[in-house]
Amino acid sequence: MMRQPRRSPHDSYETETTDHQAETETILLKHLPLSPDSPSPLQRDSHLQFLIRNLIQGFPSRYISQDASQPWLLYWTLQSFSVMGVALDPNNKQKAIDTIMAWQHPDGGFGGGPGQAAHLLPTYAAVCALAIVGRPGPGGGWDQIDREKMYKFFMSIKQSDGAFLVAHHAEVDVRGTYCLLVTVHLLNMLTPELLEGIPGFIMSCQTYEGGFSSASQPYFSAEPEGPPILLDSPRPPLGEAHGGYTFCSLASWVMLQPYLALQKPSLQRPSLNFKALLRWLVQMQGSEIELGGFKGRTNKLVDGCYSWWVGGCFALLSSLGIVGAHGRDDNHESSTAHEGDESWDDIDDSLWDRAALQRYILCAGQHPAGGLRDKPPKAADSYHTLYCLAGLSAAQHNVFLSSTRQDAIVHGWRTPAGSKHEQLRQACFSHSLSWTEEEGTSRVLGAQNNRMVIFCANFECRVTYGGFMQNATHPVFNLTMTHTEGMMAHFYKQTIPS
Ligand code: FPP
Ligand code: ZN
Repeated sequence: MMRQPRRSPHDSYETETTDHQAETETILLKHLPLSPDSPSPLQRDSHLQFLIRNLIQGFPSRYISQDASQPWLLYWTLQSFSVMGVALDPNNKQKAIDTIMAWQHPDGGFGGGPGQAAHLLPTYAAVCALAIVGRPGPGGGWDQIDREKMYKFFMSIKQSDGAFLVAHHAEVDVRGTYCLLVTVHLLNMLTPELLEGIPGFIMSCQTYEGGFSSASQPYFSAEPEGPPILLDSPRPPLGEAHGGYTFCSLASWVMLQPYLALQKPSLQRPSLNFKALLRWLVQMQGSEIELGGFKGRTNKLVDGCYSWWVGGCFALLSSLGIVGAHGRDDNHESSTAHEGDESWDDIDDSLWDRAALQRYILCAGQHPAGGLRDKPPKAADSYHTLYCLAGLSAAQHNVFLSSTRQDAIVHGWRTPAGSKHEQLRQACFSHSLSWTEEEGTSRVLGAQNNRMVIFCANFECRVTYGGFMQNATHPVFNLTMTHTEGMMAHFYKQTIPS
């Protein structure tokens, strides 16, 4: 039997926040497994049925408020299939491709539905959905993406301080920066002009807590009606640190590494406060009373989707050398372990508890009728289904950025990296595809059926890079490695739009 935990420490000052926390703890306690290493099994079939119902019969009417998020609904559904190792049949793939292409705006980028304005967030979702179901050639979607116009759209919303509006006449939001960076990486649209200033903007979103907020204050005015003056870095962040913005900022920072490495060293080079970031991330993990789930901000509640937004940040930090990754290019022992096995202890859980996060997702995140959720007794939805499953993958797999693999990809490149631009393109390609996991280092809580990965001997990647690739979740893009590689291999044979 598991020790009965107490309530989280609290003072006697009751507020709505403390009431919500107490209610949540009472509910979560009822979901504690009898033994910590025997969580509820992953109900793969009922989650698949939940997703298939939405996809084939259409989303229930309560989704009407998400009319401008149609690419997201499709991406969440398709990527949930992918992490569970399921692919659509050719007919349904074609239906999905045709649906996605109807969201492309005539002036570039994708909108949230047919006829809607182009926006960075649905552009990411549409391109990722095409990475999953699309293919080259007529009607396959990939070659019908208008990259020239998309590039012009991106440049037209770029601001002088390195931020991007999410759409014409809209606001700045670091989620938009992340979405744009993923899109330009996947579609081979990287240029130094597009990236200029982004690192400084990311830096300016970090708050005093260590996590990141949605944006920063670019201007100030000396007098109430006076002219706005662009502030020098560091600019003050706008708002509160949040897991969603923190993932987007950190993943953007990781994508910018090849660009930063090609810059001349300078004293003013933007930098992040990793010590504060790590401290904040660690503190977002709930206690054993909260079953080890993550919360998205200070004094708020644990929620399944932060399994990815916050739990996913640790692999990103390992790629920057901030925390150690188990499984590196150097020597270490391989093993496949389950909690309770001695070898589970090889892995350093001192910063975050991978077993506890798996316990939260399996015991509290799964809705008994299929699909995954924020927390009980909430309903399941496709957003939480994906981010709980992606979080499960992040908790199980020690994915790391391999410098050996990066070198192998660079050596395999046919054209020499002459110009700065070409160097950037090659460096981003190899950086994006160098994530790997050493066989046998995953840590699955409970039965093997709970494993969020399929091993795949992808023929193309073997031929191209001489290595086996596992179909784990890409820690930056949230696509499988195979889909990432398939799309990038296609677009990096083409010229860059300008
Ligand atoms: C607060 O919701 C939510 C936010 C402030 C935004 C969250 C942002 C993300 C999840 C990132 C999305 C990423 C992309 C790429 C679009 P809430 O108040 O309901 O939740 P909370 O109490 O947990 O903060
Ligand atoms: Zn959530």
